[in-house]
Amino acid sequence: MLSVRTIYGEIFDNDEAFGLFCSIAASGEAQGGWENGKIAALVPGSQAGLAAKIARHGADEDKHGRIFTALLRKRGLEPVPVPADTDYTMRLEAAGIGLAHARLRREQELTEAGIVTYLAHSRVTEQRASEQMRALRRHAGDRPDIARAVRVISNDEDNHLAYCHEELLRLAAAGHGEVIRAMLRATALAELAIYRDVSLAVMAHLGGILGWPRPKAAVLAAGIRGVHAYERSGGWRRMVSLRMPARRNALGGPVRAQASHA
Ligand SMILES: [Fe+2]
Ligand SMILES: [Fe+2]
Repeated sequence: MLSVRTIYGEIFDNDEAFGLFCSIAASGEAQGGWENGKIAALVPGSQAGLAAKIARHGADEDKHGRIFTALLRKRGLEPVPVPADTDYTMRLEAAGIGLAHARLRREQELTEAGIVTYLAHSRVTEQRASEQMRALRRHAGDRPDIARAVRVISNDEDNHLAYCHEELLRLAAAGHGEVIRAMLRATALAELAIYRDVSLAVMAHLGGILGWPRPKAAVLAAGIRGVHAYERSGGWRRMVSLRMPARRNALGGPVRAQASHA
């Protein structure tokens, strides 16, 4: 039977597939950590209250990278190079979504518009992260190590998403509403195409490792294209709405530097 749970099971049970899966995840998290760390240091004076929250956001992403790497090492594996076509963060950056890495490396203070760009990018990508972690959480139930790690990450991603809603609503109330709406829409529409392409690439690499027959690979690819068709035809709206979250000030606490689950 071809189910999402079976597919995850196949990946979790195979060292090489699990190694690639965790390496891709760890690399994406670490890049998110790097971006947020840079942005936290470049927050303009008018948004100074955000700096600590962005630093916390970055520290969480770095922690997630370490958690995925720890999962690998527990199995006696080492991280492997991430194929370029599976690199979600770099592909978004290459498509001009979010703040360009070259801009962040210039170490020049950001403008308020830059902060809006960062938050819109995060609103969309954190929704993706939150949904992916919830899916992983559902399907890793009988594997305690993975389930514990994913629970920690999933909770953080929900916090990140709540924080993005709250901060974007604050900036919208301060007069940035129109720019925010336009930027969220452009970001979401670009992201969902990249997400589809990255998902197809990840599936192709994993399918190669796991020796999936062509009909099976074709069914999975069709599933990914089906999700994209749904998102393209209106599902994207869930990624751009703004609602005051139940969890307020979700990133208001201190930076937690250590991966506490390990
Ligand atoms: Fe993360
Ligand atoms: Fe996140």
